[in-house]
Amino acid sequence: MNNLLLEVQDNIAVLTINRPKSLNALNSETLSELNECLAGLEKREDIKVVILTGSGEKSFVAGADISEMVNATAKEGRAMGMLAREAFGRLENMPQVTIAAVNGYALGGGCEISMACDIRVASEDARFGQPECGLGILPGFGGTQRLARLVGKGRAKELIFTCEQIDAQEAYRIGLANKVVPQAELLDTCKAMAGRIMKNGPFAVTLAKQAINTGSDTDLDSGLKLEANLFGLAFATEDKKEGMTAFLEKRKEKHFVGK
Ligand code: CAA
Repeated sequence: MNNLLLEVQDNIAVLTINRPKSLNALNSETLSELNECLAGLEKREDIKVVILTGSGEKSFVAGADISEMVNATAKEGRAMGMLAREAFGRLENMPQVTIAAVNGYALGGGCEISMACDIRVASEDARFGQPECGLGILPGFGGTQRLARLVGKGRAKELIFTCEQIDAQEAYRIGLANKVVPQAELLDTCKAMAGRIMKNGPFAVTLAKQAINTGSDTDLDSGLKLEANLFGLAFATEDKKEGMTAFLEKRKEKHFVGK
């Protein structure tokens, strides 16, 4: 991998987009590598949480690579959008929990890739925005869809139409960032959150993610039916027996096996 770094420790994968000279902008090669890397990670049962970040302290991801797009044709632009759709879709729906550690600029494709993660933790100096209309294009890596779903249509339209950047506190206020911490504490905060998640039944967490992701894209009744089905499925697991028995035995230590 030329543009990604992967480190796995204590059941957590830290995946770093590593193109610091262009503020970690996403070119086609990086998108392909990301897709391939996530396809490998999603099969690994030893990995429970994936933390996605950018290299350096200035930028998470400054967007799609403008130098690659400047001469791209309509066909090539669409192909790039489809490539991102595949990689970001994989990120969004992988069985593991994904946390974006947003360590600086999250613009355009950077904001979009953070929104394909389950949770966004931002450094105090992070800045979010969708500057595409200022480049004569529109958000093409999921921004028009995921931003509107996360913060509502009105705020999404304002951010996309004005191209204004917002700081981490404003992102927190509108629900785009889950938490804001000093840059020096960013990775440790994400790892601590991963630790809290990993104390719980891993299969239950995956089912809850599936219920939220699929349910929020459908009508309430279908979502509730899906939830009831997945709820039933959880009752068939060893983890349900262990979690409930531990409660009744007033035992803090639980031994979840992920099935
Ligand atoms: N693509 C390619 N190169 C980029 C880049 C990008 N998105 N963002 C930054 N770079 C490069 C710069 O060209 C510069 O390269 P050189 O040193 O070779 O000149 C280097 O990274 C450092 O950037 P700056 O000198 O501009 O740094 P700065 O501190 O002055 O500004 C910034 C930082 C505000 C993030 C500014 O770089 C910027 O505005 N970047 C572009 C942000 C943007 O428009 N993103 C959206 C892209 S379109 C998109 O993402 C479409 C989509 O929906 C997927």
